Amino acid sequence: MITIPRSVGAEVLDGLEPTDPAAQRSRRDLRRVHRAMRTRSILLRALQQLTPPGPDASSIRVLELGAGDGTLMLGVARAMARWWPPVELTLLDRQALVDGETIAEFAGLGWTTRVTVADALDWADSQSGDPTARWDLIVANLFLHHFEGAQLSALLGAVAAVSDRFVACEPRRDWVALAGSHLVGSIGAGEVTRRDAVLSVHAGFRGAELSARWAANGLDWRVQEYRAGPFSHCFCADRAEVS
Ligand SMILES: C[S@@+](CC[C@H](N)C(=O)[O-])C[C@H]1O[C@@H](n2cnc3c(N)ncnc32)[C@H](O)[C@@H]1O
Repeated sequence: MITIPRSVGAEVLDGLEPTDPAAQRSRRDLRRVHRAMRTRSILLRALQQLTPPGPDASSIRVLELGAGDGTLMLGVARAMARWWPPVELTLLDRQALVDGETIAEFAGLGWTTRVTVADALDWADSQSGDPTARWDLIVANLFLHHFEGAQLSALLGAVAAVSDRFVACEPRRDWVALAGSHLVGSIGAGEVTRRDAVLSVHAGFRGAELSARWAANGLDWRVQEYRAGPFSHCFCADRAEVS
């Protein structure tokens, strides 16, 4: 079957102000899309494949890049909180989208949350000058597909430089996912989400595309890349010395 060539296009949501009703609608749609994509279970399964933090860890530092409103990670936190030591979580997005209720729910699980409003490419740039920045885990969900070429390599390079574990869950670039993306209206998604879903699949990943880029970061990583659920593509990496 013919492979869909990768093409990264500007998504409508990224050009809207957070207060725009169309943006707010699309972010609500995203929660439905996650249910259809089974994103939370896919992330939980991916996290279980990584080397867990050592039994002596008193806390762990987790960063989510392109975290949106933080509710997907909150679902992950609800499932992981009793297995993990207390988490210092940073939710980074270039828009301020995390509300007080979400932060309070993290706090109820024993997770302290910092919200960082920044461009992830600036974050990546700043990492080379900050040897103290270390993360036990970095997560990216429906985020890496916004990038290509040197920007994608710079992001992955920064993640590899400052973290011990990395999980990314992205749209899978194949015909099944493309068909699904044309059907998101059937789960009630509005116009912005209907357009962005299709763009996201065209910008998604398949095969070993992320591993090939990650290889530039050296051999001391255990890497897995696989199709997950009906529409997703997962990449997991952990450092050999933490394995
Ligand atoms: C499709 S949403 C996914 C949100 C969340 N990870 C989830 O799965 O629900 C992509 C997010 O990436 C953010 N984003 C896009 N480009 C970014 C950049 N260069 N730096 C930081 N955040 C970015 C957008 O603001 C948006 O919240």
